[in-house]
Amino acid sequence: MLLALLTWADVESYLKQKDSILVPIGSTEQHGPNGLMGTDHIAAEAIAREAGARAGTIVAPTIPFGMSHHHMGFPGTISLSPETLLALMKDIVSSLYRHGFRRFYVVNGHGGNTPTLGASFSSILSDCPLASFKIASWWLLPEITGLAGTLFGGREGHHATPSEVSLTAHLHPDRVREIPGCRVEPVSYPWPVSPERFREIFPDGRMLSDPSLARPEHGKRFLDVAAEAVVKDLAAFADS
Ligand code: NI
Repeated sequence: MLLALLTWADVESYLKQKDSILVPIGSTEQHGPNGLMGTDHIAAEAIAREAGARAGTIVAPTIPFGMSHHHMGFPGTISLSPETLLALMKDIVSSLYRHGFRRFYVVNGHGGNTPTLGASFSSILSDCPLASFKIASWWLLPEITGLAGTLFGGREGHHATPSEVSLTAHLHPDRVREIPGCRVEPVSYPWPVSPERFREIFPDGRMLSDPSLARPEHGKRFLDVAAEAVVKDLAAFADS
């Protein structure tokens, strides 16, 4: 159930039964040699929508931007600053809270968002004391780390991973680009890093991953497994 495709009366009757909502958020940032700029929000949106359909839970419009400063050395990346993301979440949550939503289940597609999302939810609680929040970063769900480990072993890496590139390849098969196998060599690096330094350390945008292993058929499995895990987790959250 997409919020965008409901009427206000649909939302009013939903709120008589349930107070939860799925909020997908990602980023618009470089994703290595064959990953799409929209990888993180495309993945979060697909998982949230599939889980929402299975659970009968409303899904908010996707937030396509996140905290991507360290990727700004690559063209096309669009980054929010922490204060913008904080203010954006505050406005979205307090609008929904006013109507009666209380449980906010965030399907997150980008690791850089997590600290700011946590800070914004802490700050929102002073104005919306009955709200509760869950941030599910899909690639960290145990079901997903298990599947990624089975399929890709130590070549999953940290950014532009074969898992996320598989997922977008499944959703957008016309955008698939095959690339030669990528070398994965351990490297130690400071964090956080400037955009310039990031590009020096990771010249093609990958972080210790081999996205040449991405396949649409793997992406179909990741979507199914992630959606099912979110449905289960959402049910526990809604009962809490
Ligand atoms: Ni990503």
